[in-house]
Amino acid sequence: MKSLAPLLRIIGFSIIGYLFLNWAGTTGDTSIFNEQPLAWVVLGGVMLFYIAGEVCAAALKNLLYQSLTEEAKKRYDEKEVLAKANQFKWVKNKYKSLLGSKAIEEEHEIILDHNYDGIKELDNDLPPWWKYSFYATILFAIIYLIRFEVFNDYDQAEEYEAAVAQAQIEIEEWKKTAKDLVDINTVTLLSDASDLNAGKNIFVTNCVACHKADGGGGIGPNLTDDNWILGGGIKNVFKTISEGGRDGKGMIAWKTNLKPSEMAQVASYVLSLHGTTPAEPKAPEGEIWTDPNAPIEEAKIEIIDSTQVNILIEDQPVTGDIVTENKD
Ligand code: HEC
Repeated sequence: MKSLAPLLRIIGFSIIGYLFLNWAGTTGDTSIFNEQPLAWVVLGGVMLFYIAGEVCAAALKNLLYQSLTEEAKKRYDEKEVLAKANQFKWVKNKYKSLLGSKAIEEEHEIILDHNYDGIKELDNDLPPWWKYSFYATILFAIIYLIRFEVFNDYDQAEEYEAAVAQAQIEIEEWKKTAKDLVDINTVTLLSDASDLNAGKNIFVTNCVACHKADGGGGIGPNLTDDNWILGGGIKNVFKTISEGGRDGKGMIAWKTNLKPSEMAQVASYVLSLHGTTPAEPKAPEGEIWTDPNAPIEEAKIEIIDSTQVNILIEDQPVTGDIVTENKD
């Protein structure tokens, strides 16, 4: 049975390897591999793989063992005990020699010259683990002293600043991808020149065929006036660009071609065209859109009596958030 052990291991590891490859092929989710330092992933993977393989091999071995006759089991057990005794023989012997311990017959060689009421002391070596750890601390101290006290490599303040600077870089990196996390609920009107320029480029590339370069309209409606078929304001415009217009009208859903950040940029650019005068403006279509969140301009104050003040607000906004109803 002992000679079978390597074979069992190979079979066990093959099974685990096959299962792992299958799993890796089906999930396609590599995010954990991207976030961890490679060395940890490799180390963790090898360890997991090893443990799983050993468990699998042990299970196979147990299966085979159960199928043995009683007599064969006995013979196997005896061999196993012998093998255990010989296991790590080299390491055990080495450790013993490092310990420098002597057999009882030779103890007189290392006995000290003291005798405390019959209690004697052996001049044994220190345990190797203790001795070499101690040497290691001395080495560490020397290197530390030279590096930080003589050459002043860096101090805590510098270490802190370096960490903060690194974090700043990572935040900037994150922000670049975070832009693509915008959706209908979180989108805001962008006003940076770089965003509007990017929006203009996207508009020129994708939209002018139907909306004209100045937004005056053609196949698609005029984008510069106060009237909106599908609702004005950044959220509605973003939604129209992302999800498309009414069926059959020709405005496709751009979310398959444009990233969320790009749709936010082109939506902001479209809104920046508002109030401009295109060369050949298409007649207004849809309703005049008022922003429900805009500050209310007109408020009438009516004094009812000297103590009570009543505020009447005209043109109270009727529509709420995103227009969803007028797709027909
Ligand atoms: C194939 C022609 C076509 C292209 C290309 C096109 N649109 Fe449109 N667009 C339309 C039509 C048609 C409508 C009206 C949809 C409706 O009535 O439901 C529209 C509607 C819109 C609206 C809503 C207008 C309103 O009054 O509510 C916006 C905003 C808009 N488009 C932006 C864009 C942007 C940005 C692009 C480029 C990424 C683009 N469109 C590309 C044809 C187009």
